[in-house]
Amino acid sequence: MTEHSARVSDVSFIDMEESHTSGVYAKRQLTIVRGEGAYLYDEAGNRYIDCVGGQGAANIGHAHPAVVAAIRDQAGTLLSCPEIFYNDKRALLLEKLTQLAGMPRAFLSNSGAESVEAALKFAKLATGRKGIIAAMRGFHGRTMGALSATWEPKYREPFEPGVPGYSHIPYNDLTAAEAAITDQTAAVMVEIVQGEGGVRPGDGDYFRALQALCHQRGAMFIVDEVQTGFGRTGKMFAHQHYGLQPDLMPTAKSIAGGLPFGACLIGERVGKLQPAMHGTTFGGNPLACAAAIATLDVLVNEDLPGRAAALGGFLMERLGDLPTRFREKVREVRGLGLLFGIELRGKVAPVLKALQERGVLALPAGLNVLRLLPPLVISKDDLEIVAQAIESVLAADTTA
Ligand SMILES: Cc1ncc(COP(=O)(O)O)c(C=O)c1O
Repeated sequence: MTEHSARVSDVSFIDMEESHTSGVYAKRQLTIVRGEGAYLYDEAGNRYIDCVGGQGAANIGHAHPAVVAAIRDQAGTLLSCPEIFYNDKRALLLEKLTQLAGMPRAFLSNSGAESVEAALKFAKLATGRKGIIAAMRGFHGRTMGALSATWEPKYREPFEPGVPGYSHIPYNDLTAAEAAITDQTAAVMVEIVQGEGGVRPGDGDYFRALQALCHQRGAMFIVDEVQTGFGRTGKMFAHQHYGLQPDLMPTAKSIAGGLPFGACLIGERVGKLQPAMHGTTFGGNPLACAAAIATLDVLVNEDLPGRAAALGGFLMERLGDLPTRFREKVREVRGLGLLFGIELRGKVAPVLKALQERGVLALPAGLNVLRLLPPLVISKDDLEIVAQAIESVLAADTTA
């Protein structure tokens, strides 16, 4: 047994959670109690290099001092302020966010799925149409509208019938899009890199042609940047790699430094939305807005998108030849910036466990893909340690 597996944390919290938790999450035998930068700590004080990154919510690192200060300050000033009133922090955030996105307006929400729901509803309002086209292997969240757009049958089928009017087309396939988009299509929704679907980047030419097709046929072009946004792929937003202009852009995860928050950016083609067409109690709350302002400042001032591009390049240089070096175990390595995936020939679960034993926490994307989503503040030295840990796990006989 390695040092890390021997230091599994106090079981009492695990037992307490197990007794009362819903049961919908497959959990690891690890109780995380603290985070700092790109490190997580269990209750015994063991340190892990974090390549889970809050499932994409920790781009600026854990407990960033600027966000901690903004939250502390706002918590003592005003927590709750529904959007029937204007608010100083909300106004400042909206100005900053829309400027960074190059889109004029935004609806503020509390999660990725809510941002996606907003995009789907706004597309229907803007076009008067009902059809939603999403991509095979796409993931958009678990609420009914977002779930209906999500491809994975295991997530979707137990809750059928979904929302009517949804269909799925092969990703990165323009011919399929040409055949599917009609005068009944309200929107086509894609991810620039399919995150949950296996870390699969699409082609710039495909996205540009898809956007043009949406314009020609009067449909809204939705780019789901919930996972790819806020520097993750090496640009502030992944669509900026290809000069795209989405009509609607759901975001969330890292927008507020780890606090639950989201925003659906709204483009010119959507037009003005009418009061009472949508809303949510906590949307645009001053606490999350203050955290988001601080987060966006950190992303810009520390050039974290640039850092993600450079470190993603390093990781690709370092691990890009795994399919050659570990031919029987690795099928492909792919990614964009620090959204990095290693497709294995076997199951990813034993690899994740072995990495945890070596002090590295990582994610799956489906059954076979090892996904790395480190905070963008991670050091190159720590990424080198992660690369060595992956090599050592692949070299060991324990992986299938
Ligand atoms: C691309 C994408 N869209 C939407 C969501 C849903 O976000 P949330 O879990 O905050 O509802 C996710 C979550 O992983 C995602 O990756």
